[in-house]
Parts: sequence; structure tokens; C-alpha cells
Amino acid sequence: MKICYLSSECVPFIKTGGLADVSGSLPAEIQKNRNEMKVFLPLYDLIDYEKNNLEEIPEYAGSSVFIGGKEYFYSLHYAEREGVSHFFIGNNDLYNRKSVYTNAPDEDMRFIFFQYAVLNVIQRMQWSPDVIHCHDWQSALIPELLKTSFSWDKLFSNTKTLLTIHNLAYQGIFGTKTVRDAGLPENKILPGGLYEHNGLFNFMKTGILTADYISTVSQSYAEEIKTSEYGEGLQSFIQMRSDRVSGILNGVDTLQWNPQTDNIIPQNYGVESVLLKKVNKSALLKFAGMQDTAVPVIGIVSRFAYQKGFELFESFIDSLMQKEIRMIVLGDGESKYVDFFKNAVSRFPEKLFLHHGYSNELAHLITAGADIFLMPSRYEPCGLNQMYSFIYGTIPVVRKTGGLADTVTDIEDNPETGNGYAFENFEPGEFYNKICKALEHFNDKEKWIEMQTRGMNSDFTWGNSANKYIELYNKMCLH
Ligand code: ADP
Ligand code: GLC
Repeated sequence: MKICYLSSECVPFIKTGGLADVSGSLPAEIQKNRNEMKVFLPLYDLIDYEKNNLEEIPEYAGSSVFIGGKEYFYSLHYAEREGVSHFFIGNNDLYNRKSVYTNAPDEDMRFIFFQYAVLNVIQRMQWSPDVIHCHDWQSALIPELLKTSFSWDKLFSNTKTLLTIHNLAYQGIFGTKTVRDAGLPENKILPGGLYEHNGLFNFMKTGILTADYISTVSQSYAEEIKTSEYGEGLQSFIQMRSDRVSGILNGVDTLQWNPQTDNIIPQNYGVESVLLKKVNKSALLKFAGMQDTAVPVIGIVSRFAYQKGFELFESFIDSLMQKEIRMIVLGDGESKYVDFFKNAVSRFPEKLFLHHGYSNELAHLITAGADIFLMPSRYEPCGLNQMYSFIYGTIPVVRKTGGLADTVTDIEDNPETGNGYAFENFEPGEFYNKICKALEHFNDKEKWIEMQTRGMNSDFTWGNSANKYIELYNKMCLH
């Protein structure tokens, strides 16, 4: 099959969160099964052209697309990674910014243009994809574009569209004027129209109602988004399409995340040599300016966002810090969470360390060096860090939601199969109790190693998930 894959981020080129990890591994895994993948990304100025061997394709220099009567120019760059072709749509005005996502008034056009340009490129290539695989709101208009601005082109007459939702909270919501700027039919933004939600143009809603198929990144989240608790206001549209919604769990790229081969961490180890993990623990403590110690080290690596549930710490952080522990936090995002952790560090500088910012190196060192990893998410479509933790023999304590519920089996409820700790309700007491349980079990070395072994032996490789996507593509093409 021929698959056109659009993503707004992709490892190793550009990353803000888990979508980049997924887009960095899934296409190669799908292509391995004799499919042809072409991955498209915006050419952000933030991408390191040299390091990633990006080359401009000269034939496309000065190309343009007309959108809403206005001409937009684009360039096309190319890079190959793991045998997969990656194409980058360039436009200095739109992509030379300080961050991948912005609050600028032209944020709508940054991604409308991206989608038009991708379709324009494949028209010029005369490449007719069986499936266009879209991800999140940044490419959710593709199905509608195929039904409107590009409907005349027979190249797409057999093309199916799949919209994968990585996070329903981000919907791409813009004013009604965006419809005209996007060259789309203006009657569809009238109250009750396809594009309209709460009086505004909602890209995600449009994608949900127009894609041939919708998937999300875990089975639990696929069910959750049908409810008002998790549906972010779009639950009724998900329900309307429920026979076309499925959940496929993300995998782990073991070229990047594998304690046996990881060249970022000081000491490699495997399930037979898990005790060597302590070398990484020492290195992590040293990095944090702390003395070496055998007491449990708790780790966090996260975007600082409402989704991630860090409010839960507020009521018990002081009690937690009275315990014989160390805690190392790596995160970036909303300032209120940065301030919260900074404040706590100022009260417990010997025990708590915050690295505010983004660091792939430290993310690896925490995953390898910590004993316990915390993810108290309000909601979590899939979550990758709990899976990385398993593979590195680091025990996760998570809220039982979305992909966390699908991957973490609570040891107290399932003593024979448990691989971590999972609390049910978004409630500080429940979270605190689970952390305390983990700290207590940490002293029972036999039990702990058993749990580590279960996690390290689990199969979260991409193979299974990629096969499920291929099955889904096949099913879509038969319809
Ligand atoms: P989300 O995509 O919602 O942020 P995921 O668990 O799916 O959550 O993926 C997050 C990815 O981003 C992981 O690879 C994680 O290691 C990485 N990450 C998050 N915050 C940071 C940070 N501050 N520094 C380095 N890596 C980070
Ligand atoms: C989103 C979700 C996260 C998921 C990631 C990759 O960012 O918040 O749970 O793992 O996408 O699918």
C-alpha cells in the first residue's frame, strides 16, 4: 500500500511530545511490511538541516498553492531515515518561529497551508496514496480538503483517510474568518454546520466527521472520548462515528529506548543485570548535586500541562519530602507548575531537584537511574514514559486512565502479574497512598526485582501496533 503520513512533529527532526516519538518510529515499522510510506512535515526553522542531512529538491523551489484566492509559496526539502522518505514543506513566513506551536494570529494558516501544500506535492508527483494518515488537528482538514478543494482530482478518487487522535484536548479552534482564508465553503460554518462548534471553526470536529476512519492511541482512550468526562465537548461526534473509531496502543522505539544499548546513559544493563542500574542512579544523583545514597529515587519527565495532574502533589509534597527519598523532576511548560516545583525545591533542596527545560539526555538518565516513576495524569491518551520506565526496570506509579490503564497492572490488585501501581480516582490521597506503597515495597528486594523483571520482559515494541495499523488500512481500503 501507498501511505501518505502527515505529522506536525517527528523524531529526530523536531519534537515537543509523544507524537514526535510515534511519527519517528511507526512509518518505518509500517514500511518494513512492504508498504510505501511518505512522511510530510513542516520545515520549521528549528530543524537542524545539517545534522539531519536535509536537502532541497530544486524542482520545487518557488512552487506555490492558491488558498482562498491568495498565493502561498513553498519549497520542498527531503531526508531519508531508516529507509523512509521524509518531505519538508518550507515557507519562511510561516515556519520561522521560536516554537513549533504558537499563539500567533496565523496559526490557522500555518497548518492549512501545510495540508494544501502536501496535497499539491503529491499531485505534482502524480502519486496516488491508498491512505492519507493524518495526526491531530494540524492535519485534520485533509479529509475535507479532498471532498472540496481537491475533489476534482481523480488522483485521490480511491484515497481513504485515517485521522489518529493523540490528544483530543487540542482541537485547532479558530474564528469563522478562517473558513474563507482556507478557501472552504462558507455555508459550512453556519450554526450547526460541519465546521462549526460553539460558534467557531473547529478543525478536530471537522476531521472527526469527515475522515473515513478515526483511531486513537489506546483502547481505553478510544472508549473514554465517547464520554463527557474525556470527550472535550466533542463526545457526541465521536459517538456518531463509533463504528469507525478504534484504539491502537503506541509502541516503543527500541533503537532509542533500550537499557542494553542506550548510549546516553553511563551504564548499560538488561533484565539479568538489573542491579547495574545503580550505576545510573549514582550518576543521576551526582547530576542533581546530591550525595550518593541507596534510598529510593523518584523520577518525573513530563510536559508541565494541566493534563499531567501535578496539582495532586500540592497537599502532600511536604509529607512526602519528610520521607527517606530523593526526587528528580524534569519538565517544561506552564509556569504555575514550574513555580510549584521551584518553591518545593527551595524548602527541600537536599532531597528535591528540578531541571526546568527540555533535555533528552536527562530524560534517559532519569528513566535509567530512578527507582520509581510518577505519572498522575488527569487523562492520558497513551503515555510513553510508563512504557520506557518498564523497559528500564523503573516502576511506574500512575493514574488508571487511558493508555496508563492499558499498560500498568497494579501489584496490590494483581500480586501475580502486577508491574506497577495504579490509582483509580484523581484524588491526592489515592496517589499518595500508592507512592507510599511503592516506597514500602522497595525495601522488599525480591518482590521489587520480580516486578522489575515483569516490566522489562513486556513487549511494547512497535511490531504489534504497526500490524494493527496495516490491518486497519486494509479494512479501510476494502470499504
Ligand atoms: P505527551 O506527548 O503527552 O507529552 P508522552 O508520554 O506520550 O506524553 O510523551 C512524552 C515524550 O516527551 C517522551 O518521549 C518524554 O520522554 C518526552 N519529554 C517530555 N518532557 C520532556 C522534557 N522536559 N525533556 C525531555 N523529554 C521530555
Ligand atoms: C499525546 C498524548 C500522549 C500520547 C502521545 C503520542 O501527546 O498526550 O498520551 O502518548 O500523544 O501518541
